[in-house]
Amino acid sequence: MGQFDLKGKTAIVTGGNGGIGRGLALALAAAGANVCIAARNADKMANTQAELEALGAQAMSITCDVTDLEQIQRTIEETTERFGGCDILINNAGIGQGSPPEDLADEDWDRTIATNLSSVFRFCRAVYPVFKARGGGKIINIGSEYSLFGSPMVADYSASKGGVIQLTKSLAVAWAHANIQVNAIIPGWITSDMTEPVKADTEFFEAIVQRTPAHRFGEPEELGGASVLLASAASDFITGQSIVVDGGYSIS
Ligand SMILES: NC(=O)c1ccc[n+]([C@@H]2O[C@H](COP(=O)([O-])OP(=O)(O)OC[C@H]3O[C@@H](n4cnc5c(N)ncnc54)[C@H](OP(=O)(O)O)[C@@H]3O)[C@@H](O)[C@H]2O)c1
Repeated sequence: MGQFDLKGKTAIVTGGNGGIGRGLALALAAAGANVCIAARNADKMANTQAELEALGAQAMSITCDVTDLEQIQRTIEETTERFGGCDILINNAGIGQGSPPEDLADEDWDRTIATNLSSVFRFCRAVYPVFKARGGGKIINIGSEYSLFGSPMVADYSASKGGVIQLTKSLAVAWAHANIQVNAIIPGWITSDMTEPVKADTEFFEAIVQRTPAHRFGEPEELGGASVLLASAASDFITGQSIVVDGGYSIS
């Protein structure tokens, strides 16, 4: 596997118990990494941990609400303790909700920003000393098509995901001296719990499929290649970038 080999590396994947996060965790494990998945639903975590172990990976799960600073800190400490270090952080946990901006309640705005954006900053800040002491590290933040586009129904989500991309660039500049590469993946429409209601809305679903040159939704596993690239030595001179994995949706 050469420069894509992750043997001996340790990764934390937030929201790694399902959907896209599970796909990313499995890809890193298949490339040889030890993986810690950090999310709230313990049953889903146990299932995914078993899948990771079935691949021969060392895996662990930590119950972590990414909006809680102490739980972030504990996740990094316990992972580092178990595996003797940490090299890769994927900030994938996220929520989406839909309402016109004029009806968006303060609590909903705050919850989206806390989960999708503030948590990313706090996880990155908390892992920085660990990566620095280790001589480098890889951060991969999960954006969205809505990092690029506006939408009448997801102002909070768009703002949070646009912020993720700007944060990615700023941290990349700030931490290049410590050999920390900070990049993002921008998934297109991917099958997951989050997009189940979209798939159920036949008209909306068809419009998306028609606009997508690949004429389909993607599957979480299809983000695995980009995650292994950005987690491995193959990307040592790539930083502050976003890789769009969307079947061409954003260029059509
Ligand atoms: N699916 C798509 O088409 C798509 C497109 C672009 C971007 N994305 C982004 O991809 C990421 C994953 O989404 P998905 O599609 O896989 O959705 P999903 O299946 O709903 O997964 C979301 C994950 O985030 C975790 N999570 C949510 N709030 C959390 C919190 N406060 N603390 C810890 N974990 C939390 C959930 O685990 P628990 O509930 O167990 O905590 C779950 O594992 C999100 O950032 C999303 O915005 C998705």
